[in-house]
Amino acid sequence: MRNVVVLGASGRTSAEIISRLLARDDVTLTLFLRRASRLKHLASKRVALIEGDARNTADLQRGIQSQDIVVSTLGGMDLDLKTSRVIDAMQAAGAQRLVAISAGGIYDELPQPFNAWDKRMVGQTRPVNLRAVQLIEQSPLVYTVLRPVWLTDKPTEVFELTTKGEIYKGTETSRASIGRFVADLVDDPAHHAHQNLGISQPGTDGSRPQAYR
Ligand SMILES: NC(=O)c1ccc[n+]([C@@H]2O[C@H](COP(=O)([O-])OP(=O)(O)OC[C@H]3O[C@@H](n4cnc5c(N)ncnc54)[C@H](OP(=O)(O)O)[C@@H]3O)[C@@H](O)[C@H]2O)c1
Repeated sequence: MRNVVVLGASGRTSAEIISRLLARDDVTLTLFLRRASRLKHLASKRVALIEGDARNTADLQRGIQSQDIVVSTLGGMDLDLKTSRVIDAMQAAGAQRLVAISAGGIYDELPQPFNAWDKRMVGQTRPVNLRAVQLIEQSPLVYTVLRPVWLTDKPTEVFELTTKGEIYKGTETSRASIGRFVADLVDDPAHHAHQNLGISQPGTDGSRPQAYR
């Protein structure tokens, strides 16, 4: 059995991760969220709910204790603070493997003219997403950072990856493809260790995501 905790479990990307992990019988899930009642329908022998705030290290430690893999879909303008609390809680709990979501664009790595459009639309979130990634990369944790771009609820699980330093490909990332990526990683946690990856759908290149064209 693998013990996996999902931080920000009530979110839309988390839903795609959780459904894929629930489909497997070798995973024990802990769902960490601010209002546990929102996911009470998922509680079972194999699924524990922990109510807590990711700004609070003690709350996080309750969720992270005994976990093999910590998956975070947390975001927000205080993501750097939350990330530092997650790192502290993981170290206190002796957990090593972190998969965390950041955002494409933090290195100005999107191709033009998409980069300029994205910066105009959501550029204010780039600095905090960058700081959060820097904290993770400087930590002793075994991490995988994912940099999606404009999230969609399209069902496709097909994705392409770009490495740090490469020009980004695509303008959209389906939450389902992040769910697939994480489920595959839980199968083989050594895969993508210490990698910081762009993740997006092939065939979505352009000046902006389809919904904004
Ligand atoms: N939307 C995009 O196009 C886009 C693009 C690139 C990257 N991203 C990143 O991708 C991540 C996942 O996206 P998403 O659409 O799945 O987001 P989402 O549905 O908003 O999920 C994020 C979850 O984080 C939880 N959370 C926030 N602060 C918390 C705290 N202090 N303690 C506990 N939980 C907390 C929220 O819980 P509550 O319900 O309690 O607030 C929410 O359920 C985002 O966080 C964002 O940074 C998004």
